[in-house]
Amino acid sequence: MSPETAHNVTLKSLKVVPNSILRGFQDKTIVDRPVEAMGLKFPNVVGLAAGLDKNGDYFNELGQMGFGFIEVGSVTPKAQPGNAKPRMFRLVEMQAVINRMGFNNKGLEHLVERVKKRKYQGILGINIGKNLTTPLEHADDDYVFGMRSAYPLADYIAVNISSPNTPGLRSLQRREPLQALIETLMNERKVLADQCGRLVPLAIKVSPDMLDEDYVALAELAIQFGVDGIIAGNTTVERKDVVSSPFAEEDGGLSGRPLAIRARRVISFLSEQLRGSIPIIGVGGISSGKDAVAHLQAGATLVQMYTGLVYRGPELINEIRRDVSQLALRE
Ligand code: FNR
Repeated sequence: MSPETAHNVTLKSLKVVPNSILRGFQDKTIVDRPVEAMGLKFPNVVGLAAGLDKNGDYFNELGQMGFGFIEVGSVTPKAQPGNAKPRMFRLVEMQAVINRMGFNNKGLEHLVERVKKRKYQGILGINIGKNLTTPLEHADDDYVFGMRSAYPLADYIAVNISSPNTPGLRSLQRREPLQALIETLMNERKVLADQCGRLVPLAIKVSPDMLDEDYVALAELAIQFGVDGIIAGNTTVERKDVVSSPFAEEDGGLSGRPLAIRARRVISFLSEQLRGSIPIIGVGGISSGKDAVAHLQAGATLVQMYTGLVYRGPELINEIRRDVSQLALRE
């Protein structure tokens, strides 16, 4: 089976498994420490990262397995097919994945309908992106459209400007375009908050491959405009830690174990810049409870994972919850 087929089969199989069995994956003996961040109360620190449930088709089932929060998407205004297959590669010996999916998704309308019928009662983030066919100069139109559709339904909104698989997207992370985008989105948020009578937090998801000066700019702008969270971060285009893999030359973003140190360095640098004013959601390479603890110690308030779940299954959620609760007891 190709990695993408295996992924789809695994997710589909969750639909036929009774919820009681999914809940059975959770270790009930762990005493979680809830965390307050972005104005929300998270029952525990570990979330599911974006990209695994792009269309919101599986979060009701995934939400039974002990996550403190789930992020669906990235979703774009219009449905789009993504890149040609194969576009997902497993570097098994390194517990890593390279993907160039290219935001394959069924579009906002589908996701909104799914979320409207939600059964999962936990914290749900909606991650928004831009369509491939939308020119970069009009990217903010797609993000504003995404915000308007997601706002009434999301517990938080994540703005993905860091996928390496949509040409030019990452250039939105430079100071000038970033300032324009953040300003537009925060103004839109004000309007939506008045309309809906509820302030939905906005988090920006960034790449682990930026220049230090861009992280400095990001932190300054995020503080200036009152962004609620930074998700650090997405997959890397760097390959130096996986050169020995037969898939090393594949285009796309690398995730999983080899990303951990790079992600942690970014968390730590951003944490210095933000000085506690804005929470960081630490993502990248978490494949053990210790990895999650190290991301938290580097300055993250919450963590997320994707590739670790592919290799370790739901027991990794328990391991993270256990190690984090023991850390809390020691503090
Ligand atoms: C992703 N990721 C991702 N991120 C995002 O914001 N929107 C998306 O649509 C996707 N899609 C996606 C597909 C696949 C196949 C993978 C492996 C990853 C990135 C993901 O959320 C996360 O930031 C990185 O994978 C790093 O975390 P892990 O996987 O090392 O725990």
